[in-house]
Amino acid sequence: ETTDITELLLSRIRDVADYPEPGVMFKDITPLLADPEAFAVLTDALAEAARATGATKVVGLEARGFILGAPVALRAGLGFIPVRKAGKLPGATLSQAYDLEYGSAEIEVHAEDLTAGDRVLVVDDVLATGGTAEASLELIRRAGAEVAGLAVLMELGFLGGRARLEPALAGAPLKAL
Ligand code: PRP
Repeated sequence: ETTDITELLLSRIRDVADYPEPGVMFKDITPLLADPEAFAVLTDALAEAARATGATKVVGLEARGFILGAPVALRAGLGFIPVRKAGKLPGATLSQAYDLEYGSAEIEVHAEDLTAGDRVLVVDDVLATGGTAEASLELIRRAGAEVAGLAVLMELGFLGGRARLEPALAGAPLKAL
């Protein structure tokens, strides 16, 4: 069954060469989103990860993590919390900066959305270098909540994100479909 799911999902991901810049192979999930059967299979598999970790909330990472995380939260019966790029949330926020290959970026969450007692599953489409996910796990801890795990559609293993995330996950599971 796992193999069938993996093959279905893989068949709906489009490789786009040299996007957004030369030398990069972009993983385009829009064909998957446009296929209701594949989208449902993906949502179910990620919701199962949420249940398996005992998560009480789902965090989605802007922007593609919103598209996947919101239906996962609904399916699992959990609240959805957006982690946004800096400057987009109107309330009191916690911010976390992280390094990019060139320069840096910053993500934020509404401080009141995560509290002690929450177990948070982070959902995103792609784990690449792990920088974005690492910063989100840091935000969750700083909010006083517990990290339940990280669940992604795909992991680009050659970029070493899994190893980078080991300290931040601190034993919490990383599920890559
Ligand atoms: C992509 C992807 C992940 C992140 C992975 O998002 O959706 O969130 O990069 O990269 P990393 O593991 O090296 O941090 P992007 O920043 O392109 O934002 P978008 O979803 O808004 O396009």
